[in-house]
Amino acid sequence: MVSKKIRISRRLLRALLVLLLGACFQPGWANTVLITGSNQGIGYEFAKQYARKDWRVIATHRRDSEPESLVALREKYPNIEIEMLDVTKQNTIDALAGKLTGQPIDVLINNAGWPGNFMGSPQQFGTLDFGELPAVMDSMTVGVMRVTQAFIEHVRASESKTVTVITSETGMFSAVLEGLVPHNRAFWLGASKAAINYLFTKMAFEQKDSGVIYLMLDPGLVRDTNEQARMRAEGKEAPQIPILPGMPERVNIDVAVGGMIKVTDGATPADSGKIYKYDGKKLEY
Ligand SMILES: NC(=O)c1ccc[n+]([C@@H]2O[C@H](COP(=O)([O-])OP(=O)(O)OC[C@H]3O[C@@H](n4cnc5c(N)ncnc54)[C@H](OP(=O)(O)O)[C@@H]3O)[C@@H](O)[C@H]2O)c1
Repeated sequence: MVSKKIRISRRLLRALLVLLLGACFQPGWANTVLITGSNQGIGYEFAKQYARKDWRVIATHRRDSEPESLVALREKYPNIEIEMLDVTKQNTIDALAGKLTGQPIDVLINNAGWPGNFMGSPQQFGTLDFGELPAVMDSMTVGVMRVTQAFIEHVRASESKTVTVITSETGMFSAVLEGLVPHNRAFWLGASKAAINYLFTKMAFEQKDSGVIYLMLDPGLVRDTNEQARMRAEGKEAPQIPILPGMPERVNIDVAVGGMIKVTDGATPADSGKIYKYDGKKLEY
């Protein structure tokens, strides 16, 4: 009877030990990042690089089913979670924010957007297509605000408390005046980026006591997006943005994204409301 009791308590002890060890080795992510538009291009590269850093990566897309690119990435990095979120559809944003209630998000990356035909006649003065403007603004500006407002409590609950937007020199007055933005092009894209730069600056100023860091990040002109690389691998033609006189040199996607992650990692509340190029250079509005 006594030895039976000893056997039971030994089993109990062993079970407790296993439970305790299990709890110790649970994958506990140090940090969490949520990226919009992460099935291709710069967003995909962010997902890959943060996954390599062992972060919990919430990689979002707007497709009806999980994109193959992200499924393949998750096979390699189980710390990637794939979620649907269309920045133009409030219900999809609210659904994900609700699903993640109580879960901190250290870095919220507003990357998704549709630039319209920014090199073509719809965005050239003289032949402007006014029908294109609302769609560009809806994803590049309004969408960023929808997402940022919906997830702000998740960000506030985190340690890093950082919200970034991937902006562009097309939307900076200084770059336009210096002739860095191709003449008579990208009217709507530039307007959408200038508008989001203004809104980020305003949020940074008004929320400066909240600890939230609002960063505007410029990737430069990315040489080859993941989508272009994939198209070429499939034997398809992958058009490049032509370099026009005065435009900046192209930069490799891994360098651009690696640089923006470094800037984000090193950001402090004093950087809130500032624009940084991928190489850490501070840019003027
Ligand atoms: N590439 C550059 O040289 C460059 C330079 C400066 C700034 N940027 C900025 O960097 C960001 C990413 O650019 P990229 O070159 O990587 O573009 P991209 O290859 O066209 O990728 C855009 C991503 O956004 C997604 N997206 C579009 N509309 C969306 C919506 N309504 N809701 C959710 N996702 C949506 C796309 O999804 P689908 O695949 O379903 O369309 C795609 O995943 C953009 O904000 C862009 O303005 C890029």
